Amino acid sequence: MFSGRRRDFLRQISTAGLALSAKGLFGPLLNAQTVAGDGDMSRIYVDSRRLIAPLDRNLFGSFLEHLGRAIYEGVYDPGSSLSDANGFRTDVMDQVKKLGVPLVRYPGGNFVSGYNWLDGVGPKQDRPMVLDKAWNTLESNQFGTNEFMSWCKAVGTKPLMGLNFGTGTSEQAAALVEYCNVEKGTKWSDLRRKHGYPDPYHVEHWCLGNEMDGPWQIGHMTATEYGMKAEDAALQMRAVDPSLKLIACGSSGPQMPTYLEWDREVLEQCYQYVDGLSMHRYFGNTQEETGGDSSKFVALNLTMDRQIEETLAVCDMVQGHQRSPKQLWLSFDEWNVWYRERTGDAVDGHRQQAPHLLEEVYNLEDALLVGGLVNSLLRHADRVKIACLAQLVNVIAPIMTNEKGLYLQTIYYPYSWGLQYAKGSVLNVMTESPTYDVAGMGKVPYLDVVGTQASDGTVALFILNRDLSKAHSIEINWEGKAPGRVLAAQVLTGDDLKAVNSFAAPRKVAPQELTKPTTSAGKTKLEVPARSYSVIQWGT
Ligand code: AHR
Repeated sequence: MFSGRRRDFLRQISTAGLALSAKGLFGPLLNAQTVAGDGDMSRIYVDSRRLIAPLDRNLFGSFLEHLGRAIYEGVYDPGSSLSDANGFRTDVMDQVKKLGVPLVRYPGGNFVSGYNWLDGVGPKQDRPMVLDKAWNTLESNQFGTNEFMSWCKAVGTKPLMGLNFGTGTSEQAAALVEYCNVEKGTKWSDLRRKHGYPDPYHVEHWCLGNEMDGPWQIGHMTATEYGMKAEDAALQMRAVDPSLKLIACGSSGPQMPTYLEWDREVLEQCYQYVDGLSMHRYFGNTQEETGGDSSKFVALNLTMDRQIEETLAVCDMVQGHQRSPKQLWLSFDEWNVWYRERTGDAVDGHRQQAPHLLEEVYNLEDALLVGGLVNSLLRHADRVKIACLAQLVNVIAPIMTNEKGLYLQTIYYPYSWGLQYAKGSVLNVMTESPTYDVAGMGKVPYLDVVGTQASDGTVALFILNRDLSKAHSIEINWEGKAPGRVLAAQVLTGDDLKAVNSFAAPRKVAPQELTKPTTSAGKTKLEVPARSYSVIQWGT
């Protein structure tokens, strides 16, 4: 019943997306750091003294849900020769370690709203087989809280724990905090010790539910009801551990009829009890969303900028109403491209274990937009402190596994560049770029540029060229200190926007070397190819 209900709502949501963009509610989209240039030459102005904010590494978090083959077969596969003694896939662990993912949200997503965490702890042979009503899937509970914590430790990441606000109570949420964070001498901490885990995990970040504004969500409620529950749970959880950082559920996206109004009502209720507000967004290239126009699709990250700014406006308005000294930050804890595997059997597990759900295959243009989304998050690093690429393995994911190994999807690369090259503080770069017209969006700059500067003076620029047919010449003007030698210059591009990677052809879309640009008299000249996302890193 739930999956049918959920499917209907997903369909309505994508139709609502069409209505918004058709009415042109997204434009105009030149932002504070981009001005329309004339002629063919683009200019980027970088001043080492002009910074947006220090970068929180949690901006490049990810997400693992008990959904499809994300956990089972993705990270946990005890029968596989590729797994270690814990049943963890070592090839996946190596890839996640190599990426350096700082934070992983778990266990859902829609799944969490019907999840009883007690089913997933204790002796494995005693754990029940449960019908997960969010995805109509059989959940064996062989992987639960302790397995996730062990996996996080093994890959060097931190947990962002999601709480059940659907069927779960505030008491159960506080009990999980006690199970995870209290050393010993209480009912739930002693249960953890009895289960074989003597040390507390000290989980800092917690999501108070998931998409509770969505009629598809188990336990969906009104904003005021949710705000009251968030307040009550926060009080009980902080009585257990006062150091927690709590994230309230914001709107599931601008397509929601209650967009922003939900956020306002929730925050009016629970502002003083939370630290951050969550945001979610999935981008599509359907007839409804873009008319199949790729030049519009690669501009959609600008609507993420707008969503962030609108949500911040609501947070700050409530701060003002409440005369609160506290400023909230945002947790963009689900974002990605997702539109192909979004309805029908792609979201219905038919009561199987680890079914193939949401196994979206990503192409070059998806990776270009993901690059743009990385840029949008970076330029809001002053207020977006957590963001999670949804998801990590097999389910709308950069990493795909089968029984023999894994391959990397196109979207892996822009995400990995953010993790590898974005360091220190985000620079307030100014870009002068020619523009093009997009129906419903107004004038869109061809170039989308962000930069970071590490404490050792290393600088990285991330450049999206939205021009699908032409290379662009760029002049970088170094207004502070000019950079040293080029340490890395890579580009993701290709002739075919629809090209994909697969087990058979895993590197069809993969990074190539970009010609290393040279600098003289405080100016760097370079060219970025058509349809490309590039990163260039300079030393000091
Ligand atoms: O990430 C897939 C699903 O998308 C999540 O379970 C839910 O929170 C969102 O609607």
